[in-house]
Amino acid sequence: MLVGRLPELRRLRAALERARSGRPGVLALVGEAGIGKTTLLEWLLGRATAHGWRVVAARAAHHEREFAFGTWIQALDDCVGKLPAERLTALGGQHEAELAMVFPSLAHRSRGRAVGVPAERHRFHFAVRALLEELAADRPTAVGLDDLHWADPASIELAAHLLRRPPGGPVLLLLAYRPTYAAPLLRDALASASREQRAQVLELGPLSASEADELLGSPPDAKLRLALYRESGGNPFYLKELARGEARGIHLDPAHASAPRTGAELPAAVRASVEQEIAALPAGVKKLLWAGAVLGEPFDFDLAAEIAELAVAAALPALDELVGLELITGTSSARRYGFRHPVVRAAVYESAGEGWRRHAHARAAALLLNRGFAQEAVAPHVERSAGVGDREAIELLRAAGDAAAARAAQTAVRWYEAALGLTADIDAFRDLRIALLLALSSALSEHGMLDEGRERLAEAVDAAKTKILAARAPGAAGERDHARRILTGVQADAGRWGALRVARMAAEEAQHLDGAKVSIRAAGGRLSNGMPALTAREREIAALIARGLTNRQIARQLFVSVRTVEAHVSRILDKLSVRSRSAIATLTTTSLVAANLGLAPRRCE
Ligand SMILES: Nc1ncnc2c1ncn2[C@@H]1O[C@H](COP(=O)(O)OP(=O)(O)OP(=O)(O)O)[C@@H](O)[C@H]1O
Ligand SMILES: [Mg+2]
Repeated sequence: MLVGRLPELRRLRAALERARSGRPGVLALVGEAGIGKTTLLEWLLGRATAHGWRVVAARAAHHEREFAFGTWIQALDDCVGKLPAERLTALGGQHEAELAMVFPSLAHRSRGRAVGVPAERHRFHFAVRALLEELAADRPTAVGLDDLHWADPASIELAAHLLRRPPGGPVLLLLAYRPTYAAPLLRDALASASREQRAQVLELGPLSASEADELLGSPPDAKLRLALYRESGGNPFYLKELARGEARGIHLDPAHASAPRTGAELPAAVRASVEQEIAALPAGVKKLLWAGAVLGEPFDFDLAAEIAELAVAAALPALDELVGLELITGTSSARRYGFRHPVVRAAVYESAGEGWRRHAHARAAALLLNRGFAQEAVAPHVERSAGVGDREAIELLRAAGDAAAARAAQTAVRWYEAALGLTADIDAFRDLRIALLLALSSALSEHGMLDEGRERLAEAVDAAKTKILAARAPGAAGERDHARRILTGVQADAGRWGALRVARMAAEEAQHLDGAKVSIRAAGGRLSNGMPALTAREREIAALIARGLTNRQIARQLFVSVRTVEAHVSRILDKLSVRSRSAIATLTTTSLVAANLGLAPRRCE
């Protein structure tokens, strides 16, 4: 039963009428968690269906944020797949091809075409606009996108594009989101669309005290009613949760109830109410619920049971119990379940505890991979469970980044950063780090974060320099083919990622392979003579100098005094017969690299 919201309902009805008459419209429902956005969205979509509209809808989910265009795919894929071939063809070859690249239901039409260059993202936006116009050509069409604060960046960009250039014809776009978490791009696009009267923003406030009473049905005594209203701040979800808590003996703390609620925070009493509900569950039931929260919404029952390590015989009664308690609810597709409310899912996820969650995410990643899910679907679980140095995880995140790079730069940035985080500063991953840094740099630039892109490029160049230096050791040892192979490798990687500076450096180094022979040989001589002469401590300090640390930083790291470090440094200078720290750095790097490559520097002949 819908309570209050009369002015909002009037505006929703009017928007539907206007759109039916052929004027496209956008309506945004904005407000904090539980205030009633989904309720109004569904009310309007229900009304549209009853009036013969075509209604498509999607709900963004927190854990799917990395799935490029996920929200739109969820909303439109089924419709697109069912569109007669001639209507799809009528959109034009270019639009059709763009749609086929993104919508799984059209995958058979993409003829194996690779996902395109970044510019195609905009072409895809135009293709979706044409698609919506085509859909609306025979029936007015309503598109409802809920929980957009959780939508993936590519979906937000598309929504923003449609706000700037709404499709012609009877199309009504309904967007619902929590303002605190929404992407600035969405908020800005809506603000300008609203200024130019292309969109209406409905900000949902609290229910009035009498509406709250109406919502609670037969309210208990007046004092408690007042406490409930105060603590909930008139938020219908909180009101209902608090009333449930009261009914189950979780009483409001009167001191707490009189304190004003701030911001969009979950009231402590609401959190306590949900947490207590979870804590009371038997272990197996709780694990199934936790597994569902790890998988996200809606979750697949069989997967959840496997993650919870429950046999089907135990999982089925657990499922019944959770549905019975209304912690989870069935969805339109069999064996898939959602949570009573996103806030409930958040509380469940939190209550599982870090260790259990990590283990569960690792199991989820393995299961999804096993079942052939796309890397982008597996990546969120890998990110939340993999440990530093896990090569498989790094490769998977990199592949997910590559898959997203052309269409959704921000998503790609997310995965490349996650992969880099797992490489730490481990030597064995140096090549992988360079490739990841270069990929990240171009994804950042593509996303408009030019400064960050340049910083990452500089890091890649630094790392690549070490690799270029690696060619010097075999070069000096007369193994020029080997040196060239190293340099060609660097050039190829750099070329692939558009890092021209790195490619040029490698090319110059290759050109000088012969010319630089003498000085490199001289260095080689010093290396073979000097480095082994250093003590273990001196080699350690030389390596820290090569990493750019000052004497003070070295002293701190080695727990010795600055003067001790200074003494070591002057001995190193003597032994290597060089004058500067940078010379120590070059020699050390070359020597370390040679050691890594298993090449003992040869003596000059
Ligand atoms: N006007 C209303 N009348 C009756 N019940 C309502 C009303 N508004 C919301 N509710 C109830 O309050 C709860 C929360 O509402 P809803 O799910 O629509 O919130 P929301 O704004 O979509 O929250 P979220 O941001 O978490 O998605 C639901 O159980 C819903 O039935
Ligand atoms: Mg909602």
